[in-house]
Amino acid sequence: MSRASRPQSQAANEGLRSLFNLAGRVAVITGGAGLLGMKHAEVIAAAGGTSVLVDLPQACPEDRAVELSKKCHCDSFGIAANIANPGEVDAVSDAILRKYSRIDILINNAANNPKMEASSDGEWSRLENFSLEVWDADLRVGLTGAFLCSRTFGLEMAKRGKGVILNIASDLAVIAPDQRLYRKDGLPESEQPVKPITYSVVKSGILGLTRYLATYWANAGVRVNAISPGGVYNGQPQTFVTRLQQLIPMGRMANVDEYQGAILFLCSDASSYMTGANLIIDGGRTCW
Ligand SMILES: NC(=O)c1ccc[n+]([C@@H]2O[C@H](COP(=O)([O-])OP(=O)(O)OC[C@H]3O[C@@H](n4cnc5c(N)ncnc54)[C@H](O)[C@@H]3O)[C@@H](O)[C@H]2O)c1
Repeated sequence: MSRASRPQSQAANEGLRSLFNLAGRVAVITGGAGLLGMKHAEVIAAAGGTSVLVDLPQACPEDRAVELSKKCHCDSFGIAANIANPGEVDAVSDAILRKYSRIDILINNAANNPKMEASSDGEWSRLENFSLEVWDADLRVGLTGAFLCSRTFGLEMAKRGKGVILNIASDLAVIAPDQRLYRKDGLPESEQPVKPITYSVVKSGILGLTRYLATYWANAGVRVNAISPGGVYNGQPQTFVTRLQQLIPMGRMANVDEYQGAILFLCSDASSYMTGANLIIDGGRTCW
């Protein structure tokens, strides 16, 4: 490299780095104490941002935030709240604004996702047995919760003229579940577990929410996108893993940290001309 070109390439590197820089930005992560929520928070921290982990009291978001701060040497904040309750969402917003005076990013990540592959009692999950109580409870977290958080935190961002909402959908927002994955040997048809209908409905609805909000706030500086991740390997039964791998062109499930690049891209200025999109990250599963 010539001497003259060095400062130029340094400037280009700095420009690129600043695209992904989240220093000074505050990110609210619902379901933040869960498996992927913590990973989203780690990448926000690595980019210099502050994560607020919002989760149910039994998930101990305050303790998870302390762990995150120690692990990543970052500032983070945990708040116990049920996002399906509008009063609790307002209280979370008040607490964040009192502490940080700003909200820059919302990751709508919380959802009920029962692990049917590891379930020994799946009769309840079948459409013919599916109860209205479970239907209401699942929609209440995955859709109503995302709506309430988007309304409260998104309005705050729109007021300031800048912000990002990232909705966590699923490959099952794009394709139907392949119920053969969840079959258990020896069980009669009427007792075979299935992926619940609510999972498909919530995740498809999340894509509708994404497009609605993206256009609603397009001129208010609030960008709204979704990612549709494929299944993360987390010690699932080997029969399930073997069956699922056969449906994935890349031949494997995702590692738990393989969505972090996309999270950072979509939460930062690196995606500044992107809104209303759904980024599918699934090892190619939905191509087949
Ligand atoms: N893990 C996967 O393989 C996978 C694949 C595709 C999509 N997803 C999606 O990613 C997101 C995170 O998944 P995960 O695997 O980390 O799940 P997880 O169960 O580990 O985390 C979900 C978190 O949401 C919290 N939560 C539930 N109801 C809540 C409520 N009313 N208020 C506040 N918090 C609430 C739970 O306590 C939990 O900590 C979910 O939307 C899931 O559907 C996961």
